[in-house]
Amino acid sequence: MYERSQQLFEASLRVIPGGVNSPVRAFRAVGGTPVFIREGKGAWLVDADGNRYVDYVGSWGPMILGHAHPEVLADVVAVAARGLSFGAPTELELEMAELITTSLPSVEQVRLVSSGTEAVMSALRLARGFTGRSLIVKFEGCYHGHSDFLLVKAGSGALTFGNPTSAGVPAELTSKTLVLDYNDPQQAEDAFRRFGPEIAAVVLEPVAGNMNFVRPSQAFVETLRRLCTEHGSVLIFDEVMTGYRVGPRGAQGVLGIRPDLTTLGKVIGGGLPVGAFGGRRDIMARLAPLGPVYQAGTLSGNPVAVTAGLATLKRVLAPGFFDRLAATTVAVTEGLVREARVAGVPFSAASLGGMFGIFFRPSAPSTFAEVMASDKEAFNRFFHAMLRRGVYLAPSAFEAGFVSAAHGPAEIEATLAAAREAFAESRSA
Ligand SMILES: Cc1ncc(COP(=O)(O)O)c(C=O)c1O
Repeated sequence: MYERSQQLFEASLRVIPGGVNSPVRAFRAVGGTPVFIREGKGAWLVDADGNRYVDYVGSWGPMILGHAHPEVLADVVAVAARGLSFGAPTELELEMAELITTSLPSVEQVRLVSSGTEAVMSALRLARGFTGRSLIVKFEGCYHGHSDFLLVKAGSGALTFGNPTSAGVPAELTSKTLVLDYNDPQQAEDAFRRFGPEIAAVVLEPVAGNMNFVRPSQAFVETLRRLCTEHGSVLIFDEVMTGYRVGPRGAQGVLGIRPDLTTLGKVIGGGLPVGAFGGRRDIMARLAPLGPVYQAGTLSGNPVAVTAGLATLKRVLAPGFFDRLAATTVAVTEGLVREARVAGVPFSAASLGGMFGIFFRPSAPSTFAEVMASDKEAFNRFFHAMLRRGVYLAPSAFEAGFVSAAHGPAEIEATLAAAREAFAESRSA
């Protein structure tokens, strides 16, 4: 069933490290060989062997309208025909900046980059340049891209500085990053009591999607907002995943919190490489060429990529879009919970907008430790059972899932029919 994918993977292993251009694609977490994707249309993927799948990865978030949306493609083709890149300003970038600043009230000015990693790295440099301080606070289980000082795990003992999680990152570079527990307001209070005047920024996923799916408590985000205000630190919401994915105003709109800076990616590129960071005008004014904080990019604001993003965002911001998307997501997650219950499998799910988590544990987790305590083996069996039945879930128990506007009753029915058998199979294994 996967012969061609297997051949392609073996050939790739010879010329690409691990056979993939981003590690999670290698299926290491779930075992087996990755399926190579040949094409996508709407909610469906077709692999190199011709197998069809309902897609719940959506390129890890960007494909909120589904694959190969005809009007998005038409715009992209038309703009590409006029030139691929100029390295000079274009009207499209202005349009994108106006769309972002009008839809996200906390973002008074915005700069475009080419990836989420770049957006967060630049926002943190800016926060450090603005405050003249060096410490960064992040939270265990949140991922903010692969820049050196963010590849860090908590040090041993409370309120000690982090250790690198990747070889090649000097300990000096993570020694300015404090890693705290998500959803623990008291720990944040303690950290600010001890280090407040040195903290440049607090960065978090305002709904976490890189430790599966975890919602913050209101007390947690309100505490972070208050502490940053009191101590003159910059609160950064990393909305690379949640921006235009959980609602039209991102997680900040849902939570009612105004961050100082916001980072964006994924949906704002509609499947092409676009990232962005923006926020308070006084902070953004510290950025080159106005201020002393340097940041630049040859392909930043690329016209073709921005066009894909604009065509996507305009549809996502249409009235009623998120009501429909959230209803679809809930139909999927509630259906899965129902099927698990029938099969007697301990299982739970949670969602917001077009983003969801499924957990092989009786209730949805609210901490990193609870996520880690879910039954990973049961997930892995379920993942493969679903894949064989034509449902493509994220190949890891610790990733969120994504639904697109192209998912409808037929896709939900196919998913739940597959799940009925997969739960029975994973239980009997
Ligand atoms: C919250 C968050 N921030 C940053 C990134 C990094 O974005 P990119 O992969 O575009 O560099 C990701 C990627 O998954 C993310 O989920």
